[in-house]
Amino acid sequence: MKDLAFEIIGKILIIREVVDKKTLKEFAKEKMNKHSYINTVVVQTSKIQGQERRRNLKHLMGENTFATIYKEHGNSFYVDLEKAFFSPRLSYERQRIVNLVKKNEKILNFFAGVGPFGISIASKHSDCEVHSIEINEFAYQYLCKNIELNKCQDRVFPHLGDAFEIVPKKFSNQVDRILLPLPMEADKALPLAIDSLKQGKGFIHWQLTEKIHSEDTIKDIVESRLDRISLEKISRKASINSIRIIRWLAPRIAHIAIDLHFL
Ligand SMILES: C[S@@+](CC[C@H](N)C(=O)[O-])C[C@H]1O[C@@H](n2cnc3c(N)ncnc32)[C@H](O)[C@@H]1O
Repeated sequence: MKDLAFEIIGKILIIREVVDKKTLKEFAKEKMNKHSYINTVVVQTSKIQGQERRRNLKHLMGENTFATIYKEHGNSFYVDLEKAFFSPRLSYERQRIVNLVKKNEKILNFFAGVGPFGISIASKHSDCEVHSIEINEFAYQYLCKNIELNKCQDRVFPHLGDAFEIVPKKFSNQVDRILLPLPMEADKALPLAIDSLKQGKGFIHWQLTEKIHSEDTIKDIVESRLDRISLEKISRKASINSIRIIRWLAPRIAHIAIDLHFL
């Protein structure tokens, strides 16, 4: 039996390799027998791509749907796996940030998707206020549903649109903590995020992708990236509280989470 790359999200098994139909079906049947909760099998036919970080899927077996509910640390999230981004592999990163949040924080969740970061925080911190911004209308609809599903309507506020337009208009000099979970916009979003920190002080959770050469330490790489953005120009200096590799996207290409503290 050929081993294929796959992930399971809610009740949906996504096979992430396109091979002949017989192999796909054998693999799908074996997984459905092993995990009785799987009710749909789909094949991923494109990379996760574009500004909205979406992928193309093709139905293979079981119920013909790309929508499911995913459960994580006591929260539930509706998602359509073709219409919006979602990744269970960020689960640890979400909980790590949940545990860093302090009392009464005002938090800005750029690039919110269907809402997992902001909602996870709000579920554990009833005194916080989270603003979640998302450009993809489908993801935004799921974000709104998920806020209700997790009973956070009094503290998670959804905003539909481009974070680069909404943030300077509504959040300049306002918030205590910012989440930037979109590596491809990391350099562009950081100066804007800094501008929304209350009196320039607070925490930014910055995500990057970087090629790691064995001779450099990750800290060197992150520091030179910060130099390139020229924080001096906007007269801000950050201390790096933590750096962790979320996962390897390819050999040597790391998806990195950096906690920046502006004092
Ligand atoms: C990598 S996904 C992360 C989603 C979510 N934070 C999560 O972890 O599931 C990035 C999200 O940012 C959204 N996005 C991309 N550019 C944006 C922009 N300029 N303003 C607001 N949202 C944007 C995409 O539609 C996508 O849902």
